[in-house]
Amino acid sequence: MSENRSLEGRIAVITGASAGIGRAIAQHLASHGAGVVLNARRASKLQTLSEEINTQFGQFNGKTRAIFAPGDAADESVVDSMLQSAADHFGVQPDLVVVNAGRGLNGSVMTSDVNEWEEMVRTNLLGAALLIRKAGLGLVALQESRVWPTKAADLVVLGSTVGRHISPFSSMYGSTKFAVNSLAEAARREIGPKGVRVTLIEPGIVKSEFQQVAGYDESKFGQLMDKYSPVLEPNDIARGIAFVCSQPAGVHFCDLMIRGTRQDYP
Ligand SMILES: NC(=O)c1ccc[n+]([C@@H]2O[C@H](COP(=O)([O-])OP(=O)(O)OC[C@H]3O[C@@H](n4cnc5c(N)ncnc54)[C@H](OP(=O)(O)O)[C@@H]3O)[C@@H](O)[C@H]2O)c1
Repeated sequence: MSENRSLEGRIAVITGASAGIGRAIAQHLASHGAGVVLNARRASKLQTLSEEINTQFGQFNGKTRAIFAPGDAADESVVDSMLQSAADHFGVQPDLVVVNAGRGLNGSVMTSDVNEWEEMVRTNLLGAALLIRKAGLGLVALQESRVWPTKAADLVVLGSTVGRHISPFSSMYGSTKFAVNSLAEAARREIGPKGVRVTLIEPGIVKSEFQQVAGYDESKFGQLMDKYSPVLEPNDIARGIAFVCSQPAGVHFCDLMIRGTRQDYP
């Protein structure tokens, strides 16, 4: 990982940080100088990651660089607690929030498991909307307390290529990401003028726990991996996010689609 310190002094909150893309985002933001608050449901994995970050990147202004606020990111009290613990621990409001927690689901509207729909919609859509709202209002208040455009404030939202191009193979999951993509752009138009960058990240296929949680057929996915090899890794997405958030406050790379070079669809 690079020695880039372009996020020195920033305070980031990251949901879904116990695995995959969120874990890599936390590591990259910390490596660039940010203090980080990690959220996901598996507290033991967050504890391990925070210890790794604290050992590797040292303290943040005399404070522990990584802390964690575990729980369901679609639960309002957990959302409040992750934002509040950032302020309590670091003594200032977070200025970089990554709406990343989410899950996939194998199959279309015809074939996917109906019993999984509610949890997926709650996590991917309602949880994301709740954090976009609460973090967005906090970031607007932060920017209103500052003299524009000295410092950046970022709300980064994980959408997907299947939130832009319909995938018949995971259309129920894709429908949640269509909603998320639209929420992010709507939020950008609403709070961008107040100095908050709302950035939509649209990854293609990234190898993580995602495929197993979604229930993908291992051999079919393996064939796809071979066809598109090398597919993206979580670090590839995290690098893009660190780049976007490192820009001067008045510059916004507002929509970043990242695919493996050989991925032709979706
Ligand atoms: N992998 C891909 O191909 C891909 C492509 C496009 C977009 N994305 C999006 O990128 C994001 C991250 O995916 P990933 O590939 O990193 O998947 P992953 O490896 O399965 O990681 C998902 C993370 O979200 C957390 N999570 C799930 N439900 C949660 C909840 N209710 N509350 C809090 N945390 C929760 C999981 O931790 P716990 O289980 O510990 O809670 C885990 O840390 C998702 O929004 C996904 O839709 C992924």
